[in-house]
Amino acid sequence: MVTSDHPAAAPGRVAFAMQDGIAVLTIDNPPVNAGSLGVRRGVVAGIAAAQEAGARGAVLIGAGRTFISGSDLREFGRPLEQPELPDMIACIEAAPFPVVAALHGVALGGGLELALGCDWRIAAPGTKVGLPEVSLGFIPGAGGTQRLPRLVGQSRAIDLICRAARIPAEEAQEIGLIDAIAEGDLLQAAFAFLAEGRGKRLAKNLTPPEETPEAIDAVATKMLARGGKRPNVAEAIRLVRASNGDADAALAEERAVFHRLRLSEDAFALRHLFFAERKAASVDGLDMAQARDVTRVGVVGGGTMGQGIARAFLAADLPVVLVERDQEALSSALERTRAGIDRQVASGRLSQEVAEGRKAALAGTVDHAGLAGCDLVIEAVFEDMAVKTALLASLEQHLPDSAILATNTSYLDIDEMAQGLSRLDRVIGLHFFSPADVMKLLEVVRAERTSEAVLATGLKLARRLGKQPVVARVGEGFVGNRIYAAYRRRAELLVLDGAAPEAVDAAAKAFGFAMGPFAVSDMSGLDIAWSMRKRQAATRDPKARYVTIPDRLCEAGRLGRKTGKGWYDHSGGKPVPDPEVAALIAAARADAGVSPRSYDAETIQRQLLAAIVNEAACLLDEGIAQRASDIDVVLTNGYGFPRWGGGPLYWAARQDRAALEADLADLAQAVGHGFRAGPVARTLDQIDIPTEGQ
Ligand code: NAI
Repeated sequence: MVTSDHPAAAPGRVAFAMQDGIAVLTIDNPPVNAGSLGVRRGVVAGIAAAQEAGARGAVLIGAGRTFISGSDLREFGRPLEQPELPDMIACIEAAPFPVVAALHGVALGGGLELALGCDWRIAAPGTKVGLPEVSLGFIPGAGGTQRLPRLVGQSRAIDLICRAARIPAEEAQEIGLIDAIAEGDLLQAAFAFLAEGRGKRLAKNLTPPEETPEAIDAVATKMLARGGKRPNVAEAIRLVRASNGDADAALAEERAVFHRLRLSEDAFALRHLFFAERKAASVDGLDMAQARDVTRVGVVGGGTMGQGIARAFLAADLPVVLVERDQEALSSALERTRAGIDRQVASGRLSQEVAEGRKAALAGTVDHAGLAGCDLVIEAVFEDMAVKTALLASLEQHLPDSAILATNTSYLDIDEMAQGLSRLDRVIGLHFFSPADVMKLLEVVRAERTSEAVLATGLKLARRLGKQPVVARVGEGFVGNRIYAAYRRRAELLVLDGAAPEAVDAAAKAFGFAMGPFAVSDMSGLDIAWSMRKRQAATRDPKARYVTIPDRLCEAGRLGRKTGKGWYDHSGGKPVPDPEVAALIAAARADAGVSPRSYDAETIQRQLLAAIVNEAACLLDEGIAQRASDIDVVLTNGYGFPRWGGGPLYWAARQDRAALEADLADLAQAVGHGFRAGPVARTLDQIDIPTEGQ
């Protein structure tokens, strides 16, 4: 085979070569081959060069570790430069020869749209493909809503686009999105594929496979609800449904919608989160090369959290040794952990084969000596300082010096917990959220003496688990739970001062929170906070306003869903407001000498947000959180704050400052004695907000 560099080699980020009459366009835009301007120019020039050279066919392939990871999001907040992605695809479609996209690594967003604009697609095993645009507030705007359904059908396209799903090439081949999986060398496989006499086959000229309107309706309804009925989700569905008509008209319509939506408020907010999430996973100045490999993990305490944590590690192909207090507790913990894996099989999320592999990688012991081969041991035993301190001391005896000791504590002081150990540098907090194998957020808590290598290992491990890490310093409740406590306290004060709990919940939900604060309390149980309040009773400032309502609920045996009653009556299955609770609230108001006032939904929402924003400012001031955008990552990934809102600080940064100041003044007044005002203005200055004309 003759390889020659063609004189008209494509400029920009694409290398051009001719091999046996086939043009090879190699996209080379490190680190992840984002489809930026240089790539677009390069492909257009490369196709022209191929035509000039009389090529019989062309292969588009990525250099380095991936095909195209997606479009360059930094270009999306301003006018796009020519050629745009559809121009590039139009050149490919107009070429007189077949073009094969040869995929490896990932082909996402604009990368997959480019591949869909080629005549054929072949992929290395394990390549991931998907259209994530909907999760970024806009829609696939270079033919994704038109070419995908023509290949895989409308309901499948709606499902994949609205879930922003990433699927492996093997699955993509089954549904007709990819034509072949490459055996061996990808480029050679692409040549062989073309040599089989493949001609042109434009997806836009195909007709979507036949389906009943009812089948499409069912998926559309489900996906619209799943996507919070956001405008871009509705638009994506509408456009896919138009994919059995005139392709050029639908493509032009799709492009117009894309341009409008990429400049929408949702899209700006979600881009803020996209960059915030990347930043949150890093510590400025930390050399990640120090991170150690973790190959085997110990989990001590097999309760609710321990079981979920074990499943999270197993899902990342890390063998786990689970430790419990005695044989009986161990058997039960192992059984429940396995049952959780089986439930994933039953719901179709996991194959039987993978499940069996995970279960086989789970071992158990009641003897700490059984942890000797673990590089990292995480404890999830009772939230009790004495229990945890004794446990760490014992673990230190049984583990090699290199092993990392992690704690999943929700509130306790990790420095105090580690005090008696001889090596403090290896202690770190890894605070999972319940259910630990589902929730994305992981607070990586950097204790006073945690070494940089251990911190880097924690961050790398978080990635391996598919979690979103956020680094916190030690402080009661770290970042998330501390902010949540301030939010819940404000919610309870609103009730004491006149709002009904269901009105507060409804306002929170109308704002976009997944659940209201009282529905959350009922779900997780009121007793945990109750026992904490009882512990703190002796040291509570008697001058501070104290809401007795949750205590009264607990005293009445209303511990939440698990007892059938809490803030709501759950006895009929669905939570309904209960007159008994209303009476109890009225009594608490009378005892506190409060004359109830009325609150509209907007005031409730702004007060809840003000409480979050103020506490966030305090946390940053204390150095417990690293950066303002980290707070947005925590609240959206762990506490049901709507992603399309960008997070509480992004929200606040966009508010009129005088109105926000007034909210903060109301908050200060409502909390009263002991209120601490955080440096909110300084905090919000850290958040970049889009300005006019972008
Ligand atoms: P849990 O009560 O369900 O489980 C604790 C388990 O630890 C029990 O199975 C118990 O038998 C075992 N255990 C106690 N002492 C032990 C010892 N010395 N050796 C071995 N096993 C021992 O508690 P849960 O909810 O799982 O919480 C565990 C930890 O995770 C606590 O520190 C909690 O604050 C934290 N956490 C809890 C969250 C939640 O939503 N439940 C969320 C995040 C953190």
